[in-house]
Amino acid sequence: MSDKLEKARAFETRYGPFISEEERPAFHLTPTIGWMNDPNGFSYYQGEYHLFYQYYPYATEWGPMHWGHVKTKDFLHWERLPAVMAPDKPYDEGGCFSGSAAVLPDGRHLLAYTGVQEHLTADGRKKQTQTQCLAIGDGVNYEKWHLNPVLTGADLPEGSSPADFRDPKIWQEADGTYRMIVGTRTKDKGGAVVIYRSEDGLDWSLVGPLDHSYSQYGEMWECPDFFPLDGKQALLVSPVEMCPIGLEFHAGHGTVCILGSYDKEKNQFVREHIQAIDYGIEFYAPQTIQTQDGRRIMIGWLANWNTLAGKPRDCRWYGQMAIPRELSVKNGRLLQNPIREIEQYRCNKVSYQDVLICGETNLHGVTGRMIDMTLNIRPVDGNTYEFFRVSLAKDGEYVTTLRYKPGVSVLKIDRTRSGSNADMVHTRSFMVRPRNGVLKLRILMDRFSIEVFANDGEQAASVAIFTRQEANAISFDAVGSVLLDVEKYDINFT
Ligand code: FRU
Repeated sequence: MSDKLEKARAFETRYGPFISEEERPAFHLTPTIGWMNDPNGFSYYQGEYHLFYQYYPYATEWGPMHWGHVKTKDFLHWERLPAVMAPDKPYDEGGCFSGSAAVLPDGRHLLAYTGVQEHLTADGRKKQTQTQCLAIGDGVNYEKWHLNPVLTGADLPEGSSPADFRDPKIWQEADGTYRMIVGTRTKDKGGAVVIYRSEDGLDWSLVGPLDHSYSQYGEMWECPDFFPLDGKQALLVSPVEMCPIGLEFHAGHGTVCILGSYDKEKNQFVREHIQAIDYGIEFYAPQTIQTQDGRRIMIGWLANWNTLAGKPRDCRWYGQMAIPRELSVKNGRLLQNPIREIEQYRCNKVSYQDVLICGETNLHGVTGRMIDMTLNIRPVDGNTYEFFRVSLAKDGEYVTTLRYKPGVSVLKIDRTRSGSNADMVHTRSFMVRPRNGVLKLRILMDRFSIEVFANDGEQAASVAIFTRQEANAISFDAVGSVLLDVEKYDINFT
């Protein structure tokens, strides 16, 4: 083991335990200590699900990337394991960037990641070279492959950028061969995804380009994923510097799902539908896994590069993962719902039917910061109303609201008063589709986040909030009248 990795392991072992469980979310993963960004290496290995993450243990800032490591049986309890990689080789001394995992034919665990090297150009500019690298291990200890890097800029199609060539996602096909897709940037300032093939997981060669943004959906595509889902093929990407498009795609770092069909023989991906993955403020770089029981589960970073100004100053961890989501396709669109395992931890059910809401209303038993709550909102006798609003994580000072305007079918999430006074985006609006006038919202809260799933997963929206836990009131109000059903559970992890 290198000195750098040994140092990181010693640091997290020594200081990690100082962070009490109450300082963290209960079922959303946070780093052992320090900084976490993208999920990496989400995989099934020797009977357990492993997850790695972009990690800098020494500060709550991004720094030279290590890989942190946890494993889980239920996607909600995460057992901490020692960090597995540090930037300790000449080809990755600028960081071990994002990547993924598969299993080698001999049963060893294979990690694929991006090695970053920094150098100065002749005119004094800092430049990066990004290459694809491997590490092989046993579920605890990993060794970087002696033939690293396995893919370099020379393996990119003409016109792609070797400085932006990152985030390999690997998987094994039914015939035992492996595929890898990698994100890159094209000359026309667009994002692109390129696909590679390997017989043994170690020796890789270019198949060709898979898709690109045509300068429309972002300037660089990070963290791609590609998999079959309910008869379609899904391509997920996290675009950088998106131009906004209506309420579907907001400016900056976003998440995009492209559904289509894929001809493996011809390496031809034909798009049918494109949509945002998350319509909230904090969500980025998701990665998926196929579980043993056949579900496609996605986990994302519940943060965003554009809103880091809002992070708390005195916390010893920063970065949490969103709740894993079960993916499916219905009517040609992506559906996302919280992983069903969360239902095992529900308790203290409180329910109300047909409550008339026309002014501010509190309902006995409807409070909390670790909850799973479903609301059904409908008009009274078909009459229209101006808006309905639910206020969450509330006390005299703080509140996060969800406001629905049926006239325009827009749901707005507003965390302007949720702990951060940083000058950054605090609201996001997106379209929802009520069914027969009924809007259904499932709301998950876990101390420092709110995740909303509209109409059985047609839209998902996540935000991070950093207010005191005593801000736990929930109220409802409307201009005009609505009828409301509430089913609310506390989540109990003890
Ligand atoms: C996405 C990303 C990746 C990169 C990693 C670095 O959030 O920018 O493209 O590999 O973070 O930490």
